[in-house]
Amino acid sequence: MTLSIQDKLFHEIIDGLQANPASISPKFFYDELGSSLFQAITHLEEYYPTRVEREIMQSKLSQITQAIASVDVIVELGAGNCEKVRPLLETIAPKQYRALDISADFLETALANLHHDYPAIDMRAIAADITQELSFPDLQDQRILFFYSGSSIGNFNPPEASRLFSNLARECHGSGGLLIGVDLVKDIHVLERAYNDILGVTAAFNLNALRHLNYLIGSNFAIRGWEHYAFFNQTLDRIEMHLRAKSDQLVSWPGGHRQFFAGEMIHTENSYKYPKATFLKMLQEAGFTQVTAWTDPESNFLVCFAEFK
Ligand code: AVJ
Repeated sequence: MTLSIQDKLFHEIIDGLQANPASISPKFFYDELGSSLFQAITHLEEYYPTRVEREIMQSKLSQITQAIASVDVIVELGAGNCEKVRPLLETIAPKQYRALDISADFLETALANLHHDYPAIDMRAIAADITQELSFPDLQDQRILFFYSGSSIGNFNPPEASRLFSNLARECHGSGGLLIGVDLVKDIHVLERAYNDILGVTAAFNLNALRHLNYLIGSNFAIRGWEHYAFFNQTLDRIEMHLRAKSDQLVSWPGGHRQFFAGEMIHTENSYKYPKATFLKMLQEAGFTQVTAWTDPESNFLVCFAEFK
């Protein structure tokens, strides 16, 4: 059964499954269950990024909002549960808030909750795949704050991240800017623990991609036949997540199939970590003229405001 999935997405999935090594884009983690599993991850003791970013946003809020000053619209990329933007809505009080996310159902509910608390702000949920082109022609004359939190930028490789920054800088038309959170390179044990939690929530989140694919393309992945594997690649400064076949697996879908051998892997996610200086340089090279950064006392995570001044 192939549902209303577009041809383009279908082909993207099949191409990934047929590649060597096989891959599934991390955007396919986020069906409704996957979004809930990610939420659960953010509550885990091992998974520090969400917690540390929240601590930075709380302790540095007055400096951050002072730097941002006033904006007409906040455009949040990968808004998810729409909770992280609350302190910004509270202090900056923009006229408009736009929430973009790959998972539309999840977004609608989240936005409804938020709108209840900020009825004066015009809010819009937009189901969007930000790995494709981003443009906001109707916001040309508005001062925009792009908000991209949680280190989701880590899913892009560095050249792709630079391209995204250039696109956002262009969309700012010389005012406003980008408030972005990014995870920093640190002790490998801390990094690997964050993606190998003892409750197995990250494993469930990873395996859920197969369940989602079975739904999207009508494949027959036997989820019990696969296991979670995550490690920090020190050469490329990224956490890699894979799904490893526990035994030989024949996977079929309408129009094709692939034999995976025991031990063979499907690459499901890269989560890049940056040295602070590298990340600041990328923002500057994208065209922003001033970058201010805040971090936690242990330098685990970085919040940056890149603007035009
Ligand atoms: C949502 C991309 C920021 O890379 O840490 C969490 C996703 N994957 N645990 C990350 C994720 C496994 C998360 N991002």
